[in-house]
Amino acid sequence: MLVTGKAILHHAHENEYAVGAFNVNNMEQVQAIIEAAEETKSPVIIQASQGGLQYAGVEYIAQMAKVAAEKASVPVAIHLDHGTDFKQIMLCIRNGFTSVMIDGSHYELEENIRKTKQIVEMAHAVGVSVEAELGKIGGTEDDISVDEKDATYTDPDEAEKFVAETGIDSLAIAVGTAHGPYKGEPKLDFDRIKIIKERLNMPIVLHGSSGVPEESIKKAVSLGINKINIDTDIRMVFHKAVKEFIASNPDTYDPRKIVGPARKAMKEVIAEKMNMFGSSDKAWK
Ligand code: 13P
Repeated sequence: MLVTGKAILHHAHENEYAVGAFNVNNMEQVQAIIEAAEETKSPVIIQASQGGLQYAGVEYIAQMAKVAAEKASVPVAIHLDHGTDFKQIMLCIRNGFTSVMIDGSHYELEENIRKTKQIVEMAHAVGVSVEAELGKIGGTEDDISVDEKDATYTDPDEAEKFVAETGIDSLAIAVGTAHGPYKGEPKLDFDRIKIIKERLNMPIVLHGSSGVPEESIKKAVSLGINKINIDTDIRMVFHKAVKEFIASNPDTYDPRKIVGPARKAMKEVIAEKMNMFGSSDKAWK
C-alpha cells in the first residue's frame, strides 16, 4: 500500500514509535525491506539518496519501490533522502515519490527557510510530504560530507521558527549522530531531543542511526523520534554476506546465488531494527 510520508509519520507521532527509513540502490534491498516490513507488520519508508539515484536512476528506483509498495500489505512511503536540487526534487515527485527531503542545512537559517518553503509549497500542492533539516549532521552520506568540527546541534528556538515559517511535515535534527561508520560510541543529546519534541509536537527524524547502540535508539524513540534513517548497517550486512559467500564458493558465477544470501541477511537485520524502533505490529489497513 503506497502512502505519503506524512501519513506514516503522523501515525508514528500519534502512537509514539519510530518508522525505519532504509536507503536503497538495488532490487535486493527493496525486496529485503518489504519482506521485513510484512514479516513484522511494520509501516516502512524506502528512501534513496543522491548516490542511490545516480547509481540506479530515478526511474528505476521509483518503479521498483512503487511495485514493492503497491504489492505490500503494509503502508509504504517512497522518500527522497537529502534532496538538494529543485529540479531533482521535481523529477522524483513526477516519478511517484510520496515524500521528499530538502536539505538546506548548510545554508544560513533565513536561506534554509526560503529554500525549504519553496519546496513545501510545490510538494504540498501535489500531496507530497516534506522533511527538512536544521543544524548540521556530521559524517558522509554519499556526496554530502560534513566535517566533525562543522557539525552543529539543532537549536530549539530556531526549530520552532523554522517549522512555523516553512510548514514542513517532519524535521531532521542534529543531536550527536553522524552519517557513516562511527569511530567511537556516539553520544546522543537526549535532553535536546526531549525539548525539541515538546516544543514542536510533530514528527522528528534521526539521521546517521547505523551503529547507534540499541538502548540509545530506544531512548531516542521514547523521547519522540519518529523516523530513523539507516544506510551503513545494511551496506555492511550486504558486504559481509557477499564476501562470505564468495570466500566459500569461489567458482560460483551465478549472480542470484551470490546476492541471494545477502538479500536474506539484509531482511533479517531490517526486521530486527523494526522491532527495536517499535514499528512492529503498527501497520494499519
Ligand atoms: P547511516 O548511513 O549512518 O545509517 O545514515 C543514514 C542516513 O541518515 C541517511 O540519511
